[in-house]
Amino acid sequence: MESGVFASAVVAWQAVHGRNSLPWQNTQDPYRVWLSEIMLQQTQVVTVKDYFARFLARFPTVQTLAEASLDEVLGLWSGLGYYSRARNLHRCAQDVMHLHGGSFPSSAAVLVTLPGIGRSTAAAIASLCFGERVAIMDANVKRVLTRALGFDSDLASARNERTLWDLAETLLPAQAENAQAMPRYTQGMMDLGATVCTPKKPQCLLCPVNRFCMAAKAGNPEVYPVRTRK
Ligand code: ADE
Repeated sequence: MESGVFASAVVAWQAVHGRNSLPWQNTQDPYRVWLSEIMLQQTQVVTVKDYFARFLARFPTVQTLAEASLDEVLGLWSGLGYYSRARNLHRCAQDVMHLHGGSFPSSAAVLVTLPGIGRSTAAAIASLCFGERVAIMDANVKRVLTRALGFDSDLASARNERTLWDLAETLLPAQAENAQAMPRYTQGMMDLGATVCTPKKPQCLLCPVNRFCMAAKAGNPEVYPVRTRK
């Protein structure tokens, strides 16, 4: 595949067919983007919307969140599940205040050192807010990538997962692309996975990258991603 054509197709599609009015979009405020990404790690968009609004109303800034009691944070989180996310959220807000002068770091390499922020979440924040050229790889994006690339190695293996990360980086928009390209590409990959490249019955006819997609060509998208255990 010619370099850049995959990314350009995703970027152009996102602008027209992607999700562009979710409550945590149309902002480059890393606090909002971080809060939404943590909530979205294990929870659906429809559920997150209400919690996100309540959190922001009570904690409009990272400082207000850092200064709150853990009990209050856990109380507001109640119902979202996976409570370690709420504990890490609170610790992360305190680390941003005490170790980073109250501002979120702008690079994925530093973001990933904060509590609760893994490689994909760090890349999401850095690319969406700061345009950094880094690849995300959540479950939806893994599905898009493995299908497009015909990547059939078992993702239960850490080595294979690293190989997929490396391949994901080769598909990013070119360095020289306009400033909107990185955030749009990141959002576009998430949107493709959530709305077109779904686990069952993906809508390949509507997909902007179907001409590059090995799985679409072979007619077997549902076998991807290959994983022997969860
Ligand atoms: N899931 C994870 N991040 C998301 C985002 N920014 N928009 C929609 N769904 C998401």
